[in-house]
Amino acid sequence: MINIAVLGYGTVGSGVVEVIETNKGMVDKKATHELNVKYILDLRDFPEDPYGDRVVHDVNIILNDDTVGIVCETMGGVGAAYQFTRQALERGKSVCTSNKELVAKHGPELLKIAGEHNCNYLFEASVGGGIPIIRPLNYSLTAERIDAITGILNGTTNYILSKMEREGADFDEVLKEAQEKGYAERNPEADVEGHDACRKIAILSSLMLGKNVDSEKIFTEGITKITAADFLYAKEAGYTIKLLARAKRQGDSETLAMVAPFLIPKDHPLAMVNDVFNAVFVTGNMLGDSMYYGRGAGKLPTASAVVSDVIDCARHQGKVITCFWDEEEARLSDVGETKRAFFLRVKSSAGQKVQEAFPGGRVIEAGKGGEIGYITGPVKEREFQAKYEALGGEAFNRIRLF
Ligand code: HSE
Repeated sequence: MINIAVLGYGTVGSGVVEVIETNKGMVDKKATHELNVKYILDLRDFPEDPYGDRVVHDVNIILNDDTVGIVCETMGGVGAAYQFTRQALERGKSVCTSNKELVAKHGPELLKIAGEHNCNYLFEASVGGGIPIIRPLNYSLTAERIDAITGILNGTTNYILSKMEREGADFDEVLKEAQEKGYAERNPEADVEGHDACRKIAILSSLMLGKNVDSEKIFTEGITKITAADFLYAKEAGYTIKLLARAKRQGDSETLAMVAPFLIPKDHPLAMVNDVFNAVFVTGNMLGDSMYYGRGAGKLPTASAVVSDVIDCARHQGKVITCFWDEEEARLSDVGETKRAFFLRVKSSAGQKVQEAFPGGRVIEAGKGGEIGYITGPVKEREFQAKYEALGGEAFNRIRLF
């Protein structure tokens, strides 16, 4: 039997207990050991809960109990969660987590501590919720040089954009409705400004490179400026708009990493990923393209991924599961120097100016009076931005093309 402790009895933590208990026979068989939830750490008491008698308020009870082999960190944050994770690993207890913020910030350091203490730090649930993506990158695709990863990694923003497209509604209206229904957080900044997707692509790109990609150095732009009018033009031109998190090798030594809304062709597999669903599109140099799709959030999908890590730890007791993610910093490309096409929406009066500034593009008409859309040819970001800013009040918006 292996004793388990769950740190944080919120949505994911209670989901972990539910998955272990609901699928008990199967989980134990696959773990090759009986798994027993011995402790649940939380500030609160849960007297009505069937597992209420396992609740403790002092982490030392867990840390000092040598019979606890695996800890599930489902607290979130980078304060107490970081301390408790370190302490558990230093005592040789494996830790499984859904905490993307902590993995993005301290991943290589925690992996190193785990390795030094002959235990494991696993984080399948930190990206894409229930979608298996960390394990494919660590196990199934190890024969590949991964050249690019492009993901729809945030369910809240994908829900908002899908609804804007379907209903012709504006951002504020859809966000408000999503908040009322509980799909979006009351403070939606981390989602709508792209920070959540940024942390997730930092984790994926670090695994792609085997080096550390610092999430704070990733160019990140959110979706708050996207309008219903942008969708009209996108549709007319054969595109949809998605918040994409991208990491792409540029030559031998650099990687382009960014999060931003993009116009993506309607027939691209990622364009078909709608509502709260997430997907990760991986390009390897031997396999070519593969895509991983599913529920990127939610209690049971996320908990299922945590429990899959618990099973992996149980199967590998006393052995370190190799994960290539060194502390060495990866070199990121200057986004301003990268070339791509852009979509712009400007006042009709600026139509001529735009065509002269970006020759060789195409005009898009969407039946909206007083304005036109335009798709440029490939242009350096920095050059585009300077010319776009020079349009001043005559420009309404600009979005990159995938
Ligand atoms: N806020 C996140 C999302 C939850 O909307 O995708 C999962 O990380």
